[in-house]
Parts: sequence; C-alpha cells; structure tokens
Amino acid sequence: MKQISLTFAAAFSVAAAAPDGKQLFTTNCSACHMLDQMVVGPSLVEMRSLYGGKQDDFVKWSIAPQKKRPGAIEMPSQAHIGEEGLRAIYMHVMQVSKGVTAKKQEKGDPYATAPTHLARPQVQRIFMPDASPAAIAVALDDTNSLCWDAGNCRLRYAWKGGFIDGFSYWQGNGSSLAKILGTVNYTEQASPFGRDQDLKFLGYKVKDGLPVFRYQVGEKMVIEAYSPIGGGLGFVRSFAIVTTAPLVLDFPAQSGVAIVANKGRLEGGKLTLSPAEAAAFNLTFSLK
Ligand code: HEC
Repeated sequence: MKQISLTFAAAFSVAAAAPDGKQLFTTNCSACHMLDQMVVGPSLVEMRSLYGGKQDDFVKWSIAPQKKRPGAIEMPSQAHIGEEGLRAIYMHVMQVSKGVTAKKQEKGDPYATAPTHLARPQVQRIFMPDASPAAIAVALDDTNSLCWDAGNCRLRYAWKGGFIDGFSYWQGNGSSLAKILGTVNYTEQASPFGRDQDLKFLGYKVKDGLPVFRYQVGEKMVIEAYSPIGGGLGFVRSFAIVTTAPLVLDFPAQSGVAIVANKGRLEGGKLTLSPAEAAAFNLTFSLK
C-alpha cells in the first residue's frame, strides 16, 4: 500500500511543478496565435497592446473568451489550463512581444510556415473531427498521431500518415475543424473505465514533447501518458491509477491492432489488475 502511494506521489510531483509559460503557450495557444501577425486569432503584439499591465483581464478572457472580431472563429475556452498556468502564459506573451512590431498579414496556410508544424513529438490544442471542442492532437513521431479528448477524458482515435492540416481551420469559414492527414488505424468507442463514469479532467503536462494527462474516474485518480514505440509501429500508453479494489478495464480487440499489457491479465478485451498492478502499468498498441 505504501509503495502505491509513493509511486503516485512521484508521478504527481512531476505534474505539479511550476507551470512553464512558454511550453503551455506552445501547446495551447500557438495553433491560433503567432508572434507578429494575425492568423486564426490576433498576434501576441496585439495581445500586448490590449492586455499590457492587465494580467487579470487576460486570464479572464482566456477562461471565458468572447465573440469580438467579425469573421473570426470563436476562441475555445482555455479554462483547463488553470489560473496559475494562464498567468505563466501571460508572462511569456508579454516577454516575447516586447519591442516587436506587427507584420502585415500574409496569405496562405500559416501551418506551412510555422516552425512548430513539423516538430515531433508535438501536442496541439485544436478543434478536431469526431471529438468534443476540448480535443488535443498529439504527433507522437513521424508516422503516428492521436486525438485525446479532454472533454471526455479518453483517447478518441489514432492515425497514421501526416499530422494535421490546419488550413480549413485557419480560414475560419466552412469547417473550423482541423483535417487529419492520414488514415485512422485505431478508434476507441468508450473510455476503458466504461461508459457512464463520473470523469473529471484535471489537466495535462507536456514532458519531452509528449502528453501526460491527469483525470479522475469517480474516486480514482488516473495518470495516462503516451509515447511512440519507435519505427512508426504504434504507441505505448502508460497508466498510474490509485485504487483500493481490483480493476477491470476495457480494451476491445480490433482488427489490425495488437494490444499487449505488461501487467495484469488481458483476456477477451478486458484487462484485470490488482491495486498494486494498477499503480503502474502500460499497454503497447502495435498498429498496421
Ligand atoms: C482555436 C484557436 C485558438 C486558440 C487555441 C487560442 N485562441 Fe486566443 N483567440 C482566438 C481567436 C479566433 C480570437 C479572436 C476572437 C474574437 O475576436 O472574436 C482570439 C483572441 C485572443 C485574445 C484577444 C482578446 C481580446 O480582447 O481581443 C487573447 C488575449 C487570446 N486570444 C489569448 C489566448 C491564449 C492565452 C490562448 C492559449 C491559452 C489562446 N488564446 C488560444 C483563437 C484561439
């Protein structure tokens, strides 16, 4: 029992470290905001002129954005980052925009020129197809990407090929969803914890470019992290779950997908774990 709580505390102290404004900005805001030009949303230079010296107002806007500019899409609420994180982002925005002047707007797909576009791994908060507005797109490596839905605390799907094309999204007309550049090779219909669960998203952290999600399922605290297997073959999903009772999780079999658990017993699409096993285990998803 003692060992379980130690493992858990260790995992959490990573998640609770002081927020990194630059990293949080890259993950949550850079899809729509660039330093010196309007893309989907206004530039950081414009943010500075609007919110310089008004940190509280900046945080308020980010939690509850308004419809303000005609023709712009609606900015999704960034409440999931939390006030402390938003304050760190504010400091970052003020710092990098200092003394910078705005460029005239360029035409075309800003994703094509944004240096972050090709970075792997990469985490982006963006509107995605077949997910709630709180979707998070993750490029694990050059081949594998996935969509994790913070609104439902679950993996929606994974795909193979390129990452995302933001063009339709950037244009702000018609579809405001990012387009997947590739073929979906894994989908999950429900949370492994089952349907009708009381799920609460607690936030996420990016570690070495890869996401670590935290959420609660009823009374259980869950940490779920993703990393690539390597060679474009799929991904590893690591869990740390604090539970006092044995746990059964659903990972239904799918054609073209081989799932292997390093602990517990995986049979007929159900993974059974003792509380000690649940404290730290992983599943390897080999995908076609
Ligand atoms: C999905 C795209 C998107 C993301 C992600 C996004 N924004 Fe925005 N943001 C917008 C759009 C669009 C507007 C302009 C909305 C309008 O004027 O109607 C905007 C406007 C703003 C403004 C200007 C507010 C004002 O008073 O005019 C600030 C500040 C801002 N965003 C901060 C952030 C921060 C901080 C983040 C990340 C934590 C973020 N945004 C993430 C799209 C986005």
